[in-house]
Amino acid sequence: ISLKPYNTFGIDVNAKQFVSVKNIADLKAVFSTNKIEDTFILGGGSNMLLTKDVDKLVIHLDLKGKTIISKTETEVFIESQAGENWHEFVLWTLNQDFGGLENLSLIPGNVGTSPIQNIGAYGIELKDNFYACSALNLKTLELEEFSNADCKFGYRNSIFKQEAKGHYIITSVVFKLSVKNHTLHTNYGAITAQLEQNNITQPTIQEVSNAVIAIRESKLPNPKEIGNSGSFFKNPVISNTAFSKLQENFPNAPHYIISDTEVKVPAGWLIETAGFKGKTFGNYGVHKKQALVLVNYSDAKGDDILKLSKLIQNTIYRIFNISIEAEVNIF
Ligand code: EPU
Repeated sequence: ISLKPYNTFGIDVNAKQFVSVKNIADLKAVFSTNKIEDTFILGGGSNMLLTKDVDKLVIHLDLKGKTIISKTETEVFIESQAGENWHEFVLWTLNQDFGGLENLSLIPGNVGTSPIQNIGAYGIELKDNFYACSALNLKTLELEEFSNADCKFGYRNSIFKQEAKGHYIITSVVFKLSVKNHTLHTNYGAITAQLEQNNITQPTIQEVSNAVIAIRESKLPNPKEIGNSGSFFKNPVISNTAFSKLQENFPNAPHYIISDTEVKVPAGWLIETAGFKGKTFGNYGVHKKQALVLVNYSDAKGDDILKLSKLIQNTIYRIFNISIEAEVNIF
């Protein structure tokens, strides 16, 4: 079976075997008859680059359902099963006037994979509203609960990318959202500008979501139209000393201060400055409006995109002496 419909990059590779799993009992059954190393877990397929056929049993996580666990005048706890589409879930919470996820509107992927890389955008990260998740321990086949602290969230990082990698499958996530008196995060430049442009001074959470959707649609390619996995690279974090050196040659280098000793430099700026923005190599290339996004225009090979990503990494290192790391998982 072709995995093309199951990865947002739209890479056409085949899976040796494929199973769609709709409940925990079936998931456990799959692991009682297959070795972990012979399986390949697939969620929304929005953060991966496939470079060859998958010679394994691909397990498509299709666990569905959303429940309000408890609600008070001020807060609500909601559980979503892993296979729910992230953006549809966000819209569902906003329709009920539950606040917290509005800045994370329109991020591709599923709820179950959102904690793995602690998805983030426009000043908010998943961890800000994440309460807990359930995950199947693949050795014991028991469900375990991970609190926010257990997940060790960091920038595009969590325990599921580190020591727990390959040992667990997240099956559901519980969010803690606001019911009234929502705390808005609108001071990210692009959001402020978008709201001002629409003359909105006292935005609702739905209006913040609409602003985010408008910004993302103006910059980021829709994977249904152009294959991509969002930001291909992470924004590098460098020391103040390294940044001072960079400023000698690039006095206008954008940056965000993240601690007393480190700054984050937008990889999109590095890639654009290196001349890659909008570059097309046949059927793949670097997106025209956001240099951080690599795109598959039609039937590109995963390997070609991987080679382009290496060329970009090497060029950035040569010009700026900065290493940029892939954010997407490469198989
Ligand atoms: N920039 C350029 N050229 C570009 C792109 C960006 O010069 O082609 C510079 C600009 O100076 C801009 C700055 O980079 O001011 C920041 O750009 P932007 O606000 O678009 O954010 P980003 O750093 O490129 C990150 C996330 C995105 C997230 C946005 C908004 C990472 C790796 N990416 O991108 O997340 O939507 O911030 O918060 O942290 C994703 O992870 O897939 C993703 C899209």
